[in-house]
Amino acid sequence: MVKLLTLSALLATHVAAECTRESLQKHADTYISSLKAGSGLQASTYTEQFKPSSLAKGIHSKPIKVGLTRHLLDTTACATFSEINAPENTPPMVIVTQTRYTDNKVSKMETLYTTKENGWIADPAVFASYAAKESRPMIPEGQRDTRAVIQSIADAYFDRFANQSVPVPHASPCERLEGMMHVAPDCTAGIPKGNMKMTNRRYVIDEAYGTVDAFVNFGGGMPDSHEFRVEGGKLKYVHAVTVAKS
Ligand SMILES: *[C@@H]1O[C@H](CO)[C@@H](O)[C@H](O)[C@H]1NC(C)=O
Repeated sequence: MVKLLTLSALLATHVAAECTRESLQKHADTYISSLKAGSGLQASTYTEQFKPSSLAKGIHSKPIKVGLTRHLLDTTACATFSEINAPENTPPMVIVTQTRYTDNKVSKMETLYTTKENGWIADPAVFASYAAKESRPMIPEGQRDTRAVIQSIADAYFDRFANQSVPVPHASPCERLEGMMHVAPDCTAGIPKGNMKMTNRRYVIDEAYGTVDAFVNFGGGMPDSHEFRVEGGKLKYVHAVTVAKS
């Protein structure tokens, strides 16, 4: 009996260490409190603006005045994505972070941040004000798109930069928030004609919210985050955060 209890206690510990929504949410909450404190984070690998960096030196080393935040929890890849609006920080910022976990520890963290100075057409206050107006409820089980469908919308959107014929199924209206630019009711409008490649795509996918974030090199260069909310197989929201100067 004693042995059995010990075993079940061990099993409970093991399950808790896995990548559940609960454990990932805990990591995300820790991330936000560390951002506010300006300390407390550890990661085996950390990049800032896609360059090798240190949590002790970069933007995580000073307290950030955090506003509206949102997280994606990817229980399959054991990863989180966080969008942090900090319009009242000095300087105002949008921060986006992809974090990957191994054995319940941060194995890799990648952060991009934009200010009015370094971002592509960036104005964090405008970005935050539009972000606050969006409606992104959890999608009921049974109505959720698969990971493959959600990712395929991101890939179609990216591929369109090199091939205008690639269809991107979108809701009507769908909205794109790109720096200070708000594009609606067709969020795919204004994609430049040309042959731009979106390279090094790494995804964090949350099926419960129909949302994928991808970190890419925009046109093969600029550090960039594109996040896509998909509803019923159709694109609803796009958030683009692009570092023009780093
Ligand atoms: C462009 O996309 C269309 C639609 O998916 C496809 O049929 C075509 O082969 C693509 N063209 C190139 C050059 O890849």
